[in-house]
Amino acid sequence: MNRLDNKIAVVTGGAHGQGAAEAELFIAAGAQVVITDVDIEGGEATAQRLGASCQFMAHDVASEEAWVRVVGDVVDRYRRIDVLVNNAGIFRVLGLEETPLAVWNELVAINQTGVFLGMRTVAPVMKEQRSGAIVNISSIAGLVASAQAHAYSATKWAIRGMSKSAAVELGPSGIRVNSVHPGFIDT
Ligand SMILES: NC(=O)c1ccc[n+]([C@@H]2O[C@H](COP(=O)([O-])OP(=O)(O)OC[C@H]3O[C@@H](n4cnc5c(N)ncnc54)[C@H](O)[C@@H]3O)[C@@H](O)[C@H]2O)c1
Repeated sequence: MNRLDNKIAVVTGGAHGQGAAEAELFIAAGAQVVITDVDIEGGEATAQRLGASCQFMAHDVASEEAWVRVVGDVVDRYRRIDVLVNNAGIFRVLGLEETPLAVWNELVAINQTGVFLGMRTVAPVMKEQRSGAIVNISSIAGLVASAQAHAYSATKWAIRGMSKSAAVELGPSGIRVNSVHPGFIDT
């Protein structure tokens, strides 16, 4: 018996990097994994590499409509969602004074609003099951000060607070919410 046997997991930003590695680990532990990404070619290639336990769905995490479609499609196909890993994220090396508003808005949309939409969209599914785990990928930049990454740092601190608030709110329904804070990883 593997730890994640019969579990259905959704990993955003799963075409590359840590998301692809998370999907691979989940599959090794017995899970069926849906990876999502804006990179359709990369996502399809990763799903093919990971085999029958992995499926790819095109998905922009900043889009409310895309979240409704992806969660609906996963539930239609697998009847449940046990784990959501809000992994998709982007990084820009820009200090406070160099950050254009458009870049700030892009980072907030993908890194922060994407996590909000993901948690909000799966919450009713997990509540109905009375079980589930949401894992939000923050960063060490959401724990300590970091220079030259003002908008990124803002979103990663936000994810930490959002995870704690959601954990308090969803815990009574049997749903765990945690944030993860990796250091630098060569992806
Ligand atoms: N690599 C590091 O050093 C590091 C450290 C701490 C935290 N993180 C965080 O870990 C997560 C994964 O990072 P990584 O290093 O694997 O990055 P990566 O760039 O290798 O992978 C990120 C993936 O997210 C996808 N993506 C980008 N925008 C998207 C969108 N709007 N919707 C859906 N998918 C989208 C990309 O196509 C890509 O496949 C990110 O949240 C990142 O901030 C990374």
